[in-house]
Amino acid sequence: MELQKVLSERRSIRRYKNLSIPQKDIEMIVQAAQEAPSWKNSQTARYHVVYTEEMVKRIKEEALPEFNAKNVADAPVLIVMSFIGSRSGFDRDKNPINEIGEGWGFYDCGLASENLLLKATELGYGTLVMGIRDEAKLRELLNIQQDEIIVSVIGLGIQDIAPSRPERKALSDVLKWH
Ligand SMILES: Cc1cc2nc3c(=O)[nH]c(=O)nc-3n(C[C@H](O)[C@H](O)[C@H](O)COP(=O)(O)O)c2cc1C
Repeated sequence: MELQKVLSERRSIRRYKNLSIPQKDIEMIVQAAQEAPSWKNSQTARYHVVYTEEMVKRIKEEALPEFNAKNVADAPVLIVMSFIGSRSGFDRDKNPINEIGEGWGFYDCGLASENLLLKATELGYGTLVMGIRDEAKLRELLNIQQDEIIVSVIGLGIQDIAPSRPERKALSDVLKWH
């Protein structure tokens, strides 16, 4: 699919069909995420694919607030995005290279996440990034180690709604020529 078409077709999807996704497609989606650039190619992003029916149900019930659980009620897959802390943007002695510090890990994770969303769109899947989630519960349920910083939960599935495009700011509000 042409990039511009993928960019305009990607939407945050808050209603899914109750249909499963082949693991092969999820691997393709994560491989696309891995193609994203990262600080010194540190590749600190991690992808916790929640795939079994039982764990998907537990995450929705225990680690998402009610409104987000409802948004992804029928989504068959959840991907918990995290990254290894104190690496991207840090030197070998774990000193931050500049004022952004751990922000570079989040930056890399965001780049990887967008690749993931776009590849999912290309393959015909809908996604929803959720920043409102219970970090401690996710860590406990998925046994995520302390060196990983948990960022978002991404719902993935076949969309059952075609939302309209939320308006974007005028180009002149965000683009500054120097
Ligand atoms: C970091 C981040 C966190 C978000 N958290 C949530 C969330 O918790 N629940 C939700 O319904 N949407 C969430 N969204 C989706 C945004 O509301 C959505 O991307 C925005 O309204 C633009 O719509 P679009 O994605 O269809 O272009 C999040 C998006 C991002 C990038």
